[in-house]
Amino acid sequence: MDTLTQALAELRRQFTVPTDVLRDVAAAFQADLKAGLAGAPASLPLLPAYLANPTGRERGRYLALDFGGTNVRVLLVELLGDGVVHVRRRVSRRLRDIARGYDYTAPDVTPAALFGFLARLVGMVAPAEGRWPLGFTFSYPCRQTGLTRAVLLRWHKEIRVPGVEGQDVGKLLQQALTREQVRQVELKAIINDTVGTQLAGAYGDRDCRAGVIIGTGFNVCYLEEQVFAPPGQIINLECGDFARLPRNAYDNRLDAASANPGGQRLEKMVAGLYLGELVRLMVVDLAERGVLLAGAAPAGLDQPYAFTGEDLGRVLTDTAPDQPHTAALLAKLTGSAGTPAERAALRDICSMVVVRSARLVAAVLLGLLRHSDPKLERRHVIAIDGALYSHLPGYGRYLSLLLDQALGTAARQVIMRPTPDGSGLGAAIAAAAG
Ligand code: GLC
Repeated sequence: MDTLTQALAELRRQFTVPTDVLRDVAAAFQADLKAGLAGAPASLPLLPAYLANPTGRERGRYLALDFGGTNVRVLLVELLGDGVVHVRRRVSRRLRDIARGYDYTAPDVTPAALFGFLARLVGMVAPAEGRWPLGFTFSYPCRQTGLTRAVLLRWHKEIRVPGVEGQDVGKLLQQALTREQVRQVELKAIINDTVGTQLAGAYGDRDCRAGVIIGTGFNVCYLEEQVFAPPGQIINLECGDFARLPRNAYDNRLDAASANPGGQRLEKMVAGLYLGELVRLMVVDLAERGVLLAGAAPAGLDQPYAFTGEDLGRVLTDTAPDQPHTAALLAKLTGSAGTPAERAALRDICSMVVVRSARLVAAVLLGLLRHSDPKLERRHVIAIDGALYSHLPGYGRYLSLLLDQALGTAARQVIMRPTPDGSGLGAAIAAAAG
């Protein structure tokens, strides 16, 4: 075996989640969920959403502001009942657009500037006449004390704007709407993106009992029907924070250099924002050891997060012989297109992190299903969205396969339902319920 093949075999060993470990993670997750619900210490924050599933009879026009990933979106949504929705208007802006000269994730941004940016986007979509109810999807962990009161516990996904943690983001948004003269808009609900996704799924199918986002971040919510009286209540698990996991040296390195060391350990092994960074750390390591890209100057890869989730998708979908897109990407990042063997190695590395991601998500969903319905006596529709899930070919199929394998014949009770734009549409549904 040559040194590159050997190094790849070693990486594969570190990134493999064998079936028995997958089962252990599922059991630990289920135990943590049970402990958390009983008020015992647990690594899952369990944040009640003050909402149950919609009835399907919600109708009318609502605004939705969706903030929490790479893009901020505002939608004007018409709800027509029983799962039928039309998006009448939409704007989308990146939160960080270096080419256009702004970055609303940076530590020198004030809360007023960030929420002003959001309010102006709402103003671009809100019709001038009439009163417009708004649902606000804010996809960071919040302690809610009501549908429109949500205190940010901590930023995730590498946002570093000071002065927002500990504040009520509903109040910050309302003040910004007033400052920006968007007075025709009334905040009716604040929800997490997983909750939005579940609401969007449940609007057309009352058996939708969970919402999942696998995008920039990773998280799950579900309808808790045992602890709360009917119709139950949706709980945001914030399961990116789950920590009872086997980790390797690259996971630890990524964590130590992140904006929140020690936090979001599962998210850092699963979500799009971090998978690219894990790949970068591995490639830099192999390059430093002279095993990969020996003739190149991988300076373009020195910068943390220089290899993005989109780059990872580009490499994995580059199936043509000689991987032309991978060659172009490597040339851009390192000045060298790499040899065919090096490009193939990069694809292997990308696939290792993606496979591990799907296996850990499967473990979480298995733990959740076992908690909600140990014998799977009911139908469970799981609404799911996020760029990694929806744009990475094969991710969804692999996740379903893992659940099928683990659940056997009972797997027919579990339906994974892709729910595009669920986080935004769900905000409109929440506004209708609020
Ligand atoms: C992060 C946030 C969580 C959100 C997830 C997906 O984990 O903490 O609230 O749901 O990202 O966007």
